[in-house]
Amino acid sequence: MSSPPFLAACRRQPVPYTPIWIMRQAGRYLPEYRRVRSRAEFAALLRDPALAAEVTLQPLRRFPLDAAILFSDIMTPLSGMGVDLSFEPGPVVAEPIRTDAAIDALAPLVPERDVPFVLESIRLVRAGLAPQVPLIGFAGGPFTLLCYLVCGRPSKEFGAARSFLYSNPAAAERLLDRLADAMAAYLSAQARAGAQALMLFESWAGLLAPREFERFALRAVRRTVAALRTAGVPLIYYVNQGSALMECVADLAVDVIGVDWRSALGAVRRRLGPGKAVQGNLDPAALFASPEDLRELAGRVLDEAAGAPGHIFNLGHGIWPETDPDAVARLVDHVHERSARSAAAGSSGR
Ligand code: CP3
Repeated sequence: MSSPPFLAACRRQPVPYTPIWIMRQAGRYLPEYRRVRSRAEFAALLRDPALAAEVTLQPLRRFPLDAAILFSDIMTPLSGMGVDLSFEPGPVVAEPIRTDAAIDALAPLVPERDVPFVLESIRLVRAGLAPQVPLIGFAGGPFTLLCYLVCGRPSKEFGAARSFLYSNPAAAERLLDRLADAMAAYLSAQARAGAQALMLFESWAGLLAPREFERFALRAVRRTVAALRTAGVPLIYYVNQGSALMECVADLAVDVIGVDWRSALGAVRRRLGPGKAVQGNLDPAALFASPEDLRELAGRVLDEAAGAPGHIFNLGHGIWPETDPDAVARLVDHVHERSARSAAAGSSGR
């Protein structure tokens, strides 16, 4: 059996059509998700494998998506490391981590012992998912996790986290190393449980200038990625607001770079070089365009990425809760149909 288009695209192999999945595809824009949420708090949902698996599968029942992504949160494993965490709805850390003592108090993560419910969710999703649809496991990038741990809650500028990098760089590096090792353990446990690709979300990469991105965020991610070399599954690094950072990630040992909507994929590909697949990058707001305009906008993303194998269609960031599910249905169909026509034209013309 040939490999599913999502996995083939991750490895820059030719595909019969461009695979598509959508960041936050399981979530509040779906009425069936809101029905589950009316019975269970978000934090409880994360820890309940049957409910987490159900919610993960919901978008796959509606749309012919090319991958599933586990329903969880980037902060979930931190609760397994002793962090007192709540969601209001953004993540809130009761005691922000700003001292050496607080860093030392972070326990190493043993996923099977500390977050068994995540691994059980993965096994349940795998059992309920069509064999041809891969499941993506994920974690937060160490720097993005540091932002929440040091600030204690979501913030526009994450000033406390950024000033921590400058006021106590040695402590910041130590915290990042701990997080890097914990996320390596977490992701490899997800792969053993059945995840067929692994994604690291660096949602706050865009806060950093290239030098600080290299010194803090990328150094830590390299440590995670090096430990995952033997996992045997494609790795995706999502670099939100990373248009100034593409040269920095070109030699990172991942298969795919996830790209936000602010840069054109053609330019991104030129800066990354031939060794990386790209994932993205339609503006989530484009789902509010008229059907004709949405087709045009999606076509532009496909055209930008064309010319080399290795494109996974996605939004540039998570889908908005206000989005009409019918717009998602039209987007998925259009991406499949238009890219299948180009693939057929390309191969018959050769
Ligand atoms: O729309 C929903 O799905 C609501 C459920 C929800 C999630 N996280 C799902 C999630 C809620 C309430 C949270 C809490 C949370 N965690 C917030 C507030 C979210 C909100 O919209 O109110 C935030 C900002 C976080 C931190 C976080 N979680 C980040 C930065 C990321 C990485 C992706 C990104 O948006 O940059 C996550 C991952 C995440 N949260 C996933 C899910 C289902 C996994 C990724 C995916 O499905 O694509």
